[in-house]
Amino acid sequence: MLESSEMNFERPQNRTVSPEVIPNDAEEPDLNLRPKTLSEYIGQDKVKENMSVYIEAAKKRGEPLDHVLLYGPPGLGKTTLSAIIAHEMGVNIRITSGPAIEKPGDLAALLTNLSENDVLFIDEIHRLSRAIEEVLYPALEDYALDIIIGKGPSARSLRIDLPKFTLIGATTRAGQLTSPLRDRFGMLQRLELYTCEQLCDIIMRSAVILGIACDKAGAMELARRARGTPRIANRLLKRVRDFAEVIGNGRITEDIAKIALDRMEIDSLGLDNLDKRMLDMLIRGYNGGPVGLETLASAIGEESVTLEDVCEPFLMQLGFIARTPRGRCATALAYRHMGYEYTKDEKTDASQQTFFE
Ligand code: ADE
Repeated sequence: MLESSEMNFERPQNRTVSPEVIPNDAEEPDLNLRPKTLSEYIGQDKVKENMSVYIEAAKKRGEPLDHVLLYGPPGLGKTTLSAIIAHEMGVNIRITSGPAIEKPGDLAALLTNLSENDVLFIDEIHRLSRAIEEVLYPALEDYALDIIIGKGPSARSLRIDLPKFTLIGATTRAGQLTSPLRDRFGMLQRLELYTCEQLCDIIMRSAVILGIACDKAGAMELARRARGTPRIANRLLKRVRDFAEVIGNGRITEDIAKIALDRMEIDSLGLDNLDKRMLDMLIRGYNGGPVGLETLASAIGEESVTLEDVCEPFLMQLGFIARTPRGRCATALAYRHMGYEYTKDEKTDASQQTFFE
């Protein structure tokens, strides 16, 4: 069994390939990178096609859009898509998050300040407390708030009417939503990781907006290493521009992109130190698994939610990790990519059975 100190991968504080928002992402020009209409929005074709039908139908009826739950890995554009939905409906959007709504009164203040047909966007909706959820149910079903006045036997319930509105909830973990809350959404839309071609289009679009000279082959190299995530693609574009300006003539070519990404320790498939520490521990420390996620996380000194939300979706998409009933397993592909010989029998090996939890 390996101690994590035996491995020489450093522990990054701010991963360039993190799909979470990091402070630099909030720079002013980034706001312009966000598409404003469904037609500008690249990828997620199924979601776009369905949403445009629902939006048109709701507009024809003069009603608010039914409540929508957007779920999927971080960085895929759930907030952007919600702003687009509000824009296409011709209404305002109010943006908040599960942890920011601490008291029922916080939610009541948000709801009573909405205008007719507005969108309320709640990010990380799985982190709402039960008490807040209780307030939300009548708001979602009847556009009403039930307020309890007084305490004990003399307590009375007062019903306040709210404007009709649309809740858009976003979550990386749909499975953690309580079923009463999940059941109140009229539409559940899953966002998928983007293909390299879609990311390449996003990068070329962003390069034009930011005034960065970028070859198609350069953009494709960034896309290949952006782990299916536009937020990472846009971040890599800005960092590689720095290399292009300092070691090249300012233009992002395939060669410059390769040099820059190698120097940033993002490998040919977009894996960084954290992914590699996870795979290395799984392969060398636990003989390729199966091993429980908690055990694996504590062996490398990381939070299990980080591994589950950030590393796993991409490693599973690459076919490097399989989830089995007995824990996580590294596949033959992962062994080869990490430079280890695969000695298990590929036909009978547990990692080939993909039972998703
Ligand atoms: N920028 C970030 N995500 C995008 C997307 N899906 N389409 C266009 N530009 C984007």
